[in-house]
Amino acid sequence: MFQATMQKSYHKVPDSDSETDSTYVRNLDWNWHSIWQKISLLAWILSICLWATFLPLGLHILRRGPDDKACSQQLSVWSPAFPAIEIVDRKFENSFFHASPYRGKPTANLEKAWDDLWNGNAPQFEHQYYSLTSSSLIVGLVAFDEDKLPLLNKSKTQNWRRAKDGRVLASLEVFHDLHCLSFIRQYTYRNEYDYSDNIAFGGGDEMIREHVDHCIESLRLKIECTSDVTPYMEVLSAQSPGGRQLDFDTQHRCRNFDNIREWYKRNTVSWAEA
Ligand SMILES: *[C@@H]1O[C@H](CO)[C@@H](O)[C@H](O)[C@H]1NC(C)=O
Repeated sequence: MFQATMQKSYHKVPDSDSETDSTYVRNLDWNWHSIWQKISLLAWILSICLWATFLPLGLHILRRGPDDKACSQQLSVWSPAFPAIEIVDRKFENSFFHASPYRGKPTANLEKAWDDLWNGNAPQFEHQYYSLTSSSLIVGLVAFDEDKLPLLNKSKTQNWRRAKDGRVLASLEVFHDLHCLSFIRQYTYRNEYDYSDNIAFGGGDEMIREHVDHCIESLRLKIECTSDVTPYMEVLSAQSPGGRQLDFDTQHRCRNFDNIREWYKRNTVSWAEA
């Protein structure tokens, strides 16, 4: 069909031009030919230059792939704290008797160390807006635009707590997880340390037990969700019970928690805004 049309239009070209007309056409042809030659030569040179510039650049980008930030954002539900994510290599130091500010019998200092994981102690944080939940947790709240709710699989029609400017208020899961871990820790030490001024220990035994179980469940879900598959090994050692010792000083690739905590401190909304 296409070929037939082509042939038809070929035959339509008149072949009864006069001598002068033919010469004129030939000259015109020749000029166009020369111009085309120059243009195509230029196009070739230009295209070679472009390839020479952008091919190595493109290959470099392809080989490098997306950066840490892009990867971690792609593998997470949206968060206003995305800009604070930084990936760092970190070796855990957690042998059986390794000292840590977060380990051991509770003292005022140890309790403060835990609280500081989510409270922080930057001066500006004290002026921020706090949410008193049903526990000892006093959390700062961050605000984000309601357009982001679908990214969290949440509806705009629900009666979310909001800031004065209409933005939705939220805390961040990492701080709830840390609170939960701390609360379970406190529960195991409840007969050795006075937690009577701690709201989480105020609701009666049944309520406290429910809260602890909620926290254990939260951390189970979190641990399964992350499913850290970093290998850990055993060192053979005649001195150790059973002739071997587990090596918990494992290498990890982590989010920089300090970055996220700093971001949180800087971005919690103030009384005036909430
Ligand atoms: C979104 O939430 C609904 C209701 O809770 C749930 O059924 C659905 O599986 C969620 N979507 C995704 C992608 O998890």
